[in-house]
Amino acid sequence: MHDKEELLKGIYIEIARCVRCNLHTTRTCSVPGEGNADAKIMFIGEAPGFNEDQQGRPFVGAAGKFLTELICSIGLTREDVYITNVVKDRPPGNRDPLPDEISACCNFLDRQIEIIKPKIIVTLGRFSMARYFTGITISKIHGQPMRRDGIIYYPMYHPAAALHQGGLRKEIEQDMLRIPRLLEELKCAEALLVPKEPPTRQLGLF
Ligand code: URA
Repeated sequence: MHDKEELLKGIYIEIARCVRCNLHTTRTCSVPGEGNADAKIMFIGEAPGFNEDQQGRPFVGAAGKFLTELICSIGLTREDVYITNVVKDRPPGNRDPLPDEISACCNFLDRQIEIIKPKIIVTLGRFSMARYFTGITISKIHGQPMRRDGIIYYPMYHPAAALHQGGLRKEIEQDMLRIPRLLEELKCAEALLVPKEPPTRQLGLF
């Protein structure tokens, strides 16, 4: 098996056995994340809901259906990207995750990012946004990329927001459509940083 997949699988086993917070007492399945271990784009949601808890897969309910459509709108499939959550077990009744639950899961997410090394991290909703953007509301910064250490952090509304507030649907769709251009810009920036030929060869010294 691919090295990265093996490393991710190790994390999934740890997550399934994890008892670091109380959420393990109410979970049906843990929901570690899924997708391409070499994904350039990683989506980070909040926490599993009812359907995710039943199936052990992220974003498979109504919000997930919309996320899948959004991914398709930029010419990709779920298999091309990686999808996970800040918290890997369902909070009872879909309540907001608590600070101790977020910090109990933090190391899993850090390691998933370290293994996959995505170029773009798309935060879905305020809990995943809060990992990278502090002291600001999502309504102010959604759709505005921030580049740090070669990664683009891109805050978006949670897809479920469109189900509760229909008016946000268009904004979410438009934010998603900006992602391919971000990836292109990153490629151009990297091409400028890494010369393809050693300069001496271009000067004809070999
Ligand atoms: N909402 C999330 O934040 N994550 C899921 O996996 C499903 C719904």
